[in-house]
This record gives sequence, structure tokens and C-alpha cells, in this order.
Amino acid sequence: MRSLSAPIFSLLLATLLGVVAPASGSPHSTKRDNDDGGDGSGIPTVDNAKNPLCKPWYAIRDAIMGGIYHGRCGDPARASIRLAFHDAGTFSLALKAAGLPNGGADGSMLVDPNEVLRPDNNGLQNIVSLLQPLPAQFNVSAGDVLHLAGVLGVLACPGGPAVTTYIGRPAPKNIAPDGLLPNPNSAVKVLTDRFADMGFSIRELMALIGAHSTGKQRFVDPALAQSSFDSTVDIWDVRFYSETQNATAAPGTFRLNSDVNFSHNATTQQDYNRFVGNQDNWAREYANAHEKMSLLGLDQSTLTDCSEILPLSIDLKDLSTSSSGQQPTDPVIDPVKLEAAIQKYRSIWL
Ligand code: HEM
Repeated sequence: MRSLSAPIFSLLLATLLGVVAPASGSPHSTKRDNDDGGDGSGIPTVDNAKNPLCKPWYAIRDAIMGGIYHGRCGDPARASIRLAFHDAGTFSLALKAAGLPNGGADGSMLVDPNEVLRPDNNGLQNIVSLLQPLPAQFNVSAGDVLHLAGVLGVLACPGGPAVTTYIGRPAPKNIAPDGLLPNPNSAVKVLTDRFADMGFSIRELMALIGAHSTGKQRFVDPALAQSSFDSTVDIWDVRFYSETQNATAAPGTFRLNSDVNFSHNATTQQDYNRFVGNQDNWAREYANAHEKMSLLGLDQSTLTDCSEILPLSIDLKDLSTSSSGQQPTDPVIDPVKLEAAIQKYRSIWL
């Protein structure tokens, strides 16, 4: 991995690359003052850091996005999005009200050696072992590393919006309660109740499950391990919503019962449909719901917004096979343009 501040590399990038437009459909990325030092990479540099508290996080960002993801929407990036959910998703308002040990977005998955061994967390062992050294290496909290990894995982996937990113989480207070993560074979009511107990509305849940847009399964049906949840697993698009709703699965894909049920159930269908064919709605609402997920169980007033470190999103509208310039509703992505965009925006880490 090369240093972002290396003058020769900056000069080379400035020569080779054009200016990066902020992704439409993501209020966070459009309002964010992305300062890449003028090299056109869309990747802010520590030399232009605004908040001194955020300075150490530029190097941590590079260790994750470069050292672990290699700038790509591959298995580690995907796993980190699921990891962020499995860390935060042990939060329970009912347990909190009863004064019982609670989970939350506290990084316990990196700290407690037993949590990742629970069957619910099958498949997360590799990303946990890759992230585990970073808190000690950079003298920061496990919760901050884990939830930055989740945000960067979304951004590594073309189309993924910027999620407002906080630092300052304390060490986990409790062992995360077991048995609270959702089972894909549970009834819709069980699942929506469980998310309500985390503090999420049905609409927020319908936005969050769109993270399966870049997901694969390995343990639900091991005979079909590595099958993806939609036909465009490498990009953060709304194809997941339409394909899950269709009468038959797209070739080579695997659909979770829970996702199929959400797409048809009377209590969830209306909110689900908000995202069918609507990338802008989903990018915006997903980013807000993911931000909320990254704060479960925490006091936001004690945290610092370090979104200034985030690279810009890769905008799918520029990669569509049609050149309408409009945000595509269900984009058909040109693979050549896609690879060029990854190389352009993520070149520093490839
Ligand atoms: C009703 C709620 C949910 C259920 C039942 C569910 C269930 C699952 C299951 C069974 C898998 C496949 C695991 C495997 O066999 O490897 C999976 C993968 C995944 N889930 Fe969920 N999930 C839910 C919500 C979420 C949420 C809220 C997020 C994040 C915001 C998320 C992100 C992911 C990702 C990114 C993967 C793919 C991981 C990879 O490819 O390595 N899921 N989920």
C-alpha cells in the first residue's frame, strides 16, 4: 500500500485522473466536503484533515480499505458489512429497560473470543481475525475499528453510499447477549419485532436488508455455498429487491426465506417496494439506517463525526450501459466502465 501523501503519486494521479463527482442519491456524500488535496482521487488526505481528532483515522482507513479490502467489493468488504450488523444487532431495548446486560455497536465481536464462535456468526471468523490486530496497533477502540470497517465495506462496493462515521466508542461493557440475531426462517412478525426491539422501524429494516445486494450465503444451504443474493453481487444496487420479489430466482442466485417473505408480506411489502427500482431512495435511506445501526447502545453526544476521512462513493449513474446521465432505476452496468471506475477511484489501494 502506498502513502496517500506521496507527492510523486499525487502528481501521477492528478495527471491521469479526472475530477470525481459526488454520488447522487447519497446526502452524506454530496454534503460531505471531500478534500482529496486536488489529486482527483476522491480520497481525502491527512494533509487536509479538518478535525484533529480524526487525523489518526486516515491511516486506519488505509489499513482497512487498502490492506484488507484492496479497494474492492470482495469477500472481506462484504463480510465487514455483515459483521457491523452482527456486532450492533445484539442490542435490545427490552433488555436495557430491564437493566440486563446489553449488546450494541461496541466492537464486542473483536474483543470477546467466544462471540464469533457462535453459530449465528459462522463465516465472520476471517474478517474478525483480519481486523482484530488494528485496535492495539493504532491504540483505538475495537468498536470504532469494526464500525469504520462496515462503512468502508459499503463504500468499497460501487454504488454504496457514504454513511456518517463516528469515533469515540468505549470498550464493550458486557458480553453480547446470545440468541438475538435474526434467523432467515423466522416468521416476518418475529423478525420485525426483533428489529423493533433494536429500535428500527419496518421501513428502516427494509432499507437495511438491501445490504444483501452484495451478499453471498455459505451456511444456509452448504450445497449452494457461494451463491449470491442477486445477480449483481459486485455492486451496491437495487437489483436485489426486484429479483427477490420475482416469482423465480435469477439463475445462480440464492434467496433467503426472510427476504422473500418481506417482499410479499402485507406488513412489509409497502416499505419494501419503496426500494424496488429506486436506487436514490435506497441509497439515502440505507445510509441513515446504517448510521443508526452503528450507534446502537451508544451515547452519540460523546462521539466525534469523522466522515471527513471517507472516500467518495462510486456513482452507478456514470456506469450504466445507457448514457442518459440519469440515475438508472435498475442499472445495467457496463463491466468495462465499472472496472475503469474502480481503478480510477480506488487506484491508490489496488
Ligand atoms: C431479517 C434480517 C436478516 C437476516 C435473517 C439475515 C440473514 C443472513 C444470512 C442467513 C446470511 C448468509 C450467511 C451465510 O450463510 O454465509 C446473510 C448474509 C449477509 N447479511 Fe444478512 N440478514 C439480515 C439482515 C442483515 C442486515 C441488517 C445486514 C447489514 C446491514 C446484513 C448484511 C449481510 C451481508 C453483507 C451478508 C453477506 C455476507 C458475505 O457475503 O460474506 N444482513 N444474512
